[in-house]
Amino acid sequence: MIRIPQDEYARRRAALMARMEPGSIAILPAAPLQLRNSDVEHTYRQDSDFQYLSGFPEPEAVLVLIPGRDEGQYILFCRDRDPERELWDGRRAGQDGAVRDHGADDAFSIRAIDELLPSLMESRRRVYYAVGQQDSFDQQVMGWVNRVRAKVRQGVTAPSEFVALAPLLHPLRLRKSEAELAVMRYAAQVSARAHVRAMQASRAGLYEYHLEAELDYAFRKGGARLPAYGSIVAAGRNACILHYRENDALLNDGDLVLIDAGCEIDCYASDITRTFPVSGRFTSEQKAIYELVLKANLEAFRHIAPGKRWNDAHEATVRVITAGLVELGLLQGEVDALIEREAYKPFYMHRAGHWLGMDVHDVGDYKVNGVWRELEPGMCMTVEPGIYIAPDNEQVEPRWRGIGVRIEDDVVVTASGCEILTGDVPKSVAEIEALMAGNREHA
Ligand code: GLY
Ligand code: MN
Ligand code: MN
Repeated sequence: MIRIPQDEYARRRAALMARMEPGSIAILPAAPLQLRNSDVEHTYRQDSDFQYLSGFPEPEAVLVLIPGRDEGQYILFCRDRDPERELWDGRRAGQDGAVRDHGADDAFSIRAIDELLPSLMESRRRVYYAVGQQDSFDQQVMGWVNRVRAKVRQGVTAPSEFVALAPLLHPLRLRKSEAELAVMRYAAQVSARAHVRAMQASRAGLYEYHLEAELDYAFRKGGARLPAYGSIVAAGRNACILHYRENDALLNDGDLVLIDAGCEIDCYASDITRTFPVSGRFTSEQKAIYELVLKANLEAFRHIAPGKRWNDAHEATVRVITAGLVELGLLQGEVDALIEREAYKPFYMHRAGHWLGMDVHDVGDYKVNGVWRELEPGMCMTVEPGIYIAPDNEQVEPRWRGIGVRIEDDVVVTASGCEILTGDVPKSVAEIEALMAGNREHA
């Protein structure tokens, strides 16, 4: 399975260290283990920043970067090897593995961190770390600083600035490398297969979770450990609940089903939504709404290119959807005026997309100095317009009520436009109906 190569982690650390002030130190903790209930743990998922810089998959670890330190700039504190614990809970890299397999210049036991870290901070004026993210870690860092302060009369300089790491690190994460794009393309392909599989399995009488099971099967089969977020399988009016999670309702003939699901590969997300008829044929109202959302989705791609701004694609979808709702008689008035007073919002209440990467809603500023950000090659985002007609919307004819459609793709900005990573799932009415008709013939 495709993964981020080790040398990429070294390049990332070097890029971050090049942006750090001289005489500084960066400290990042691994994600903590989370209990689910009693002594059962949630499946472990590394912290994205920690993973980005280390690829080190274990909890109870702290990554330290000290640019310019002669004895080594990259230090990893991690768990000790422990045959008894490893027998029960799985393998550990230990300090030798951290150096040998994970590129650390030096590695120490996590149990020794309180003893060793203050000395690494000595004479470092600035400490970069994610203040306020983990309470116990904040306290630990302050404890180390106080230990250094206690030595100032011996001529040691204590750190005097505590600075967030995000403004240095997150711009790096925002622009994806070729290696990252290879992983994200693969994640998108696995997710695309999962969506096709769910479409092929769909029929009235099944429950939403039957389609979720098809997704999970395809994700695991593709090597994903987990979905990138909780899968949404929303039939009928459930599609009008944006983050619907129950996934336990019956699939009824004549309804649409909206699936928003994507797998995670090597800590990179994919995020796809498709909406299709439970039984394979759109009604005329469903088709009208679907084709309008599709038109908005396709229009958005034309506004994603270097030099375009983050909001251009969103504004394009707002225009297409507002004009289309007027044509269908769901809104009345003049398009510019309707846009001006946000008359589309009862139908289209979310934005057209978000950054995508290690986090499904990835890091990176959407505005720079108060202005929507200009797009650059390597930036990845979703394109996900939708129309949701509330079941109790009495402003529209009953035949429209309860229809919810979203179509979501993942794209990367290229030198001249954008590349769609999720093109392997059918999207036009004709393609979806043909795929689903094919299943029925083979059923
Ligand atoms: N699945 C979450 C989102 O589309 O933003
Ligand atoms: Mn999304
Ligand atoms: Mn989504």
